[in-house]
Amino acid sequence: MGKKAIVFGATSGIGQELAQLLTNDGYTVMITGRRLERLQNIQTQNKEQYIIKQHDITDVDASEKIFEELPDIFDKVDLIVHNAGIGEENYNLEWDKDLPTLETNVIGATRIYQLAYNYFKVQGFGHLVSITSIASIRGNRFVPAYHASKAFQSNYMESLWMKAQRTKKANIDITNILPGFIDTDIITGDTFWMAPLDKATKQIYNAIKNKKRKAYITKRWWLIAMLLKIVPPRILMKFM
Ligand SMILES: NC(=O)c1ccc[n+]([C@@H]2O[C@H](COP(=O)([O-])OP(=O)(O)OC[C@H]3O[C@@H](n4cnc5c(N)ncnc54)[C@H](OP(=O)(O)O)[C@@H]3O)[C@@H](O)[C@H]2O)c1
Repeated sequence: MGKKAIVFGATSGIGQELAQLLTNDGYTVMITGRRLERLQNIQTQNKEQYIIKQHDITDVDASEKIFEELPDIFDKVDLIVHNAGIGEENYNLEWDKDLPTLETNVIGATRIYQLAYNYFKVQGFGHLVSITSIASIRGNRFVPAYHASKAFQSNYMESLWMKAQRTKKANIDITNILPGFIDTDIITGDTFWMAPLDKATKQIYNAIKNKKRKAYITKRWWLIAMLLKIVPPRILMKFM
């Protein structure tokens, strides 16, 4: 009857590191992603505590199947982390570049949010976490779809938080994680205040354990978030 978690998008970066922290803490963790070889390599490190599932989050039928089959795998699920995400620079607004971002970060994410929330509602409890981004706060000329998709995710998580507060029948926690720059494969261009993956993921895990509604990672990104919220568009456009 130990703790059980699912991390969607755990083949690299934040998801892989977070799944590792969860196993260290005694969780049995289902990890997902498209790259099967990476899932298999992670599982060989700890066969007892990792369950692997090759899964493309843009395939909503496959997401539904995972949730249908959950009772065969886990007696309960304490924690579901939606981490899978992509983003690509698209200054010239090419459709082929934006579409995968929308399919992954908007369509795929929404179905996981719905399935997880409804699963927890039936179960009577559970904690849903989404790794969104500081990018959710404002627009950006270079990566508009990524910023807009993260705004969508962040807004959706706030809606779920409100919904969970008003639900008397189940005890559901909702956590929105907003990272700044963290040293992973997703980062390509120039950055500042880039946090090491291990430090940032520890802070993410602490926010999860404390059941925070919202957490900026690393903590000092709170300051950037506050500035972003108030800076006028005509000044912002000089930087973003
Ligand atoms: N690093 C940062 O500075 C930063 C800042 C803010 C927010 N974030 C967010 O943090 C999350 C994790 O990113 P990361 O930085 O750890 O980068 P990463 O190393 O590239 O990890 C991305 C993860 O998402 C999975 N993924 C992507 N598309 C998927 C799909 N269609 N189906 C299933 N899984 C998919 C990848 O697995 P497969 O490729 O194997 O499918 C991988 O496990 C993302 O949502 C990202 O937007 C990162």
